[in-house]
This record gives sequence, C-alpha cells and structure tokens, in this order.
Amino acid sequence: MSDLACPNCQQAVTTTANGYRCKACRISFPKLGKVPFMWPQPSAGLLDWRNRFNFALADLDSQITAIPQHSSPLPSTRQRLTCLSQGLQTHQNELQDILAPLRVGETLARETHLALATRLPSHHGILSYTTHIFRDWSWGEEENQLVAGHLVDVLKPNLGERVRMLVLGAGAGRLAYDLHHKLPGNIDTVALDSNPFLCLVGQTLISGGSLSLTEFPHAPIDAEDVAISRILTAPPGDNTAPITYICADATRPPFAPGSFDVVVTPWLIDVIDMGLSPFVLKVGELLAEGGLWLNHGSVAFRGTNPLNRITANEIAELSEQAGFEICHQDNTQFPYLQSPASRNHRRENVYTQLAKKSAESHIRNKGTRRTHQHLPDWIVHANVPVPVSPEFQTQITTVRIHAFIMGLIDGKRDINAMAKVLEEQRLMPANQATQAIRGFLQKMYEEAVTASGHSQSSP
Ligand SMILES: C[S@@+](CC[C@H](N)C(=O)[O-])C[C@H]1O[C@@H](n2cnc3c(N)ncnc32)[C@H](O)[C@@H]1O
Repeated sequence: MSDLACPNCQQAVTTTANGYRCKACRISFPKLGKVPFMWPQPSAGLLDWRNRFNFALADLDSQITAIPQHSSPLPSTRQRLTCLSQGLQTHQNELQDILAPLRVGETLARETHLALATRLPSHHGILSYTTHIFRDWSWGEEENQLVAGHLVDVLKPNLGERVRMLVLGAGAGRLAYDLHHKLPGNIDTVALDSNPFLCLVGQTLISGGSLSLTEFPHAPIDAEDVAISRILTAPPGDNTAPITYICADATRPPFAPGSFDVVVTPWLIDVIDMGLSPFVLKVGELLAEGGLWLNHGSVAFRGTNPLNRITANEIAELSEQAGFEICHQDNTQFPYLQSPASRNHRRENVYTQLAKKSAESHIRNKGTRRTHQHLPDWIVHANVPVPVSPEFQTQITTVRIHAFIMGLIDGKRDINAMAKVLEEQRLMPANQATQAIRGFLQKMYEEAVTASGHSQSSP
C-alpha cells in the first residue's frame, strides 16, 4: 500500500502499537478495528462521529417509542408495525456490534455537540448512505456489474503494469473491490471514506467476512418489506493483494503528493464540502505525473442553490485548467439504488470522465494552487495561546450575541422583551433586534427539533 502521511503536514507517519504517529505534529492516529483513522485532529473527529452515532441510536429509540402500543384495527397495519418494531430493535444491536470500535459509551452532551458541530458537515449522518451498503453487498449485482464493467472499459486501455489506485469517497467499497479484482495488472488499492460505519462494513466484507444488517426500504412493497434482514458478503475475487481501507477526509487526504497512478472519485464531487476547483487541484496533487483521474457520478447535487448546478462541460474545462488532459467523457444512464423491496427505482444520467495529469500541470497551477495548509500550532498543541485573529473577531461577537440571547430565555420574556434588553445593552436598536431575535430563535428551534429526532408528524 502507498505509505500513509500525516494529513496536517504530509510527512510520513510511523507505526505504533495502536495506529500511527506524526512526530512533527506530535499527533497519534488510532485505528478503528483494522481501519486507520487519519483525521487531521483524530480526537475531535472521533468525538464527533461517536456523537453522530449516539444520535442515530437515539433516533432509532424514538422511532421505536413512536410505534403505537395499542393494537391497530387493521391486520395489515399490525403486521407492518410489528415488522418495523422488530427490525428497528435488531438494527440497534447490529449497529452496536459493527460500530463497537468507535467506543460508543464516550459521549459529549448534546449541547456541546451542537456547539461544536462545525467540524463535520452536519448533513453527513453516520447512517446517511446505508442504502449503498445493500446495493454493494446484497441485491445490487446488476447495478454493480454495469458500473464496474463500464469503468474497467474506460480505464483498461490507459493503465500501466503496476497501478497504485486510490478510491476517494469509496463508501461501502464495492466499486473499489470490483476495480481491484477486474482491472488487469498489479493493482494496489486504497479505499478512503470519511464515514466510519461505511469503512468498518467495507473493511469486514472486503477481507472475507460477512455481516447481517436490516434494510428499511424507502417505499416498501409489502408489510414484510418494511424491515428486511440482509446477509452481506463479497463475491470471490482474483486479486490476492489486499485492499486497504482508510477513514479520512478526502479534502485532507493522508498521503504524500504523487502517491497514486489512479484516483477514482465515484459520486463524490457533488457531495464533498470543498469547492470543485481546489478539489480538482487536490486530486492532481495526489497523482504522480501522467496519473489518471477517473470521475464517475452526478455533477450537480451541491445543495439547493441554483448557482451550484454545474454541468459536465464545466468539470471538463476546470480539469483542463488544472493541468489535466481529457482522455474520455461520456454521459450514460445507469440504474441507481434499485432495491427489489422498494417501489422507488431511480435511473441516473451519469457523467464519466477520465483525465490524465499532464507533465506541466504543476507549472500551470503555480501561483493559483493552494498548497496544503499546515494547521496552526495553537490548534495542534493545547498549550499555545489561541490568537484573537481578524478571522475570529466577527465570529466572537456573533457567538457572544447568540449566547446572550439564549441566556435571556427564562420562560417569561417574549421576543419584544428580549429586544428591549438588547437595546438597553446597546447591542442593537429594538426594531432591528426583534427581527434578528426571531430569525435566530427560529433557527435554534429548527436545529433543536432536528437534533432531538422529534418529528412533527406521527406515523
Ligand atoms: C453518494 S456516496 C457515494 C459512495 C460510493 N462512492 C458509491 O458510489 O456508492 C458519497 C460518499 O462520499 C463520502 N464522503 C463525503 N464527503 C467526504 C469527505 N470529505 N471525505 C471522504 N469521503 C467523503 C460519503 O461518506 C459517502 O460514502
């Protein structure tokens, strides 16, 4: 496997009894089971994922509690709810087993988590991509073969004898597995994803294990399809070299520049929390000269803002600007996440692009390229004073005002009374304060409802 580097300073890490260590940054990176956890600040990353996991378990609890205890008059409803209740309870146990390496017991208070929830994109829950697991390792054989076959055809004519391949945003790992086994030559594969659940599932299955996991289809066909127990296993493969799973952030990958001959980004560029332009440069950095970037997936899911609904041509142009030479482009329809137990079946028009890092790419990017930023000492070392930097000034004021407003909630004051206090404190004129407080409290209220898992509607 390509050597791991520190995601902060990109120097090689050394192996320790429980994982890896960067001597320069004095940071230790643990392993989750067999999966290296290579986050820039591993303790904070672990805490965050642990809390997301605890929220997911709490959500399952509230779903179980919300199932009506009194018997429904309809036999079909009774059958559906019984199946759901049993499925949810089984699922909690399955998750506890699979995610045991995250050490579930260690948790922050909900408030602390919310206050700190700026570190990981909050929309990436630990169970966000669970359907992909079933597609990869249970019912998705047709979809998997179509995609893998297509990408092998695109890559094959361009590959050398020995290939170091990195799959970024590998999810539960099936595409990485299929490419690893179906591509010719000597393929050395690293699968990287930010989500520890997907990494732990993928790692177990890819190394020959099996798992049992309950699927909850979005639009179940019959009552027994509401919660289905699936056995997950990998089909046999020919490549005897192991695949390495890494839990890390693709925007801060733990590898030295030039470590790979192929970087694959399957269904990633549309969800990653980084501008496309710096991300393309990041991919270029990871590739050796002449290396290949294979992108496959949707291009324009980036949030709801119409400004971000980019087209395939923009990706191609951006790639060329970053010093890539386009070798192949196609738009092809593929079935997507078509669970046999669900009435929802998607077909997606998918953009595939293969681009080669040209010899002069580093020259073209000179001046515009943002090289890897080292984390400041005051983040890495707990004993260095945190500076009052200009970047922080605005945030400090905003957070103080927010804390002040929250402190005014006493069960007696209304918004007008709060606005008056803000005016008295000379923080804002009362007429502006009323609007500002209303907007802020609405946001707080919505976040509180989402975080507590209380839905407005009952089943
Ligand atoms: C739409 S899924 C695609 C998964 C897989 N590539 C597939 O085709 O089934 C997007 C994946 O990107 C991962 N992801 C999102 N942001 C990431 C990041 N910053 N670093 C690493 N993985 C990320 C998610 O955890 C998820 O597995």
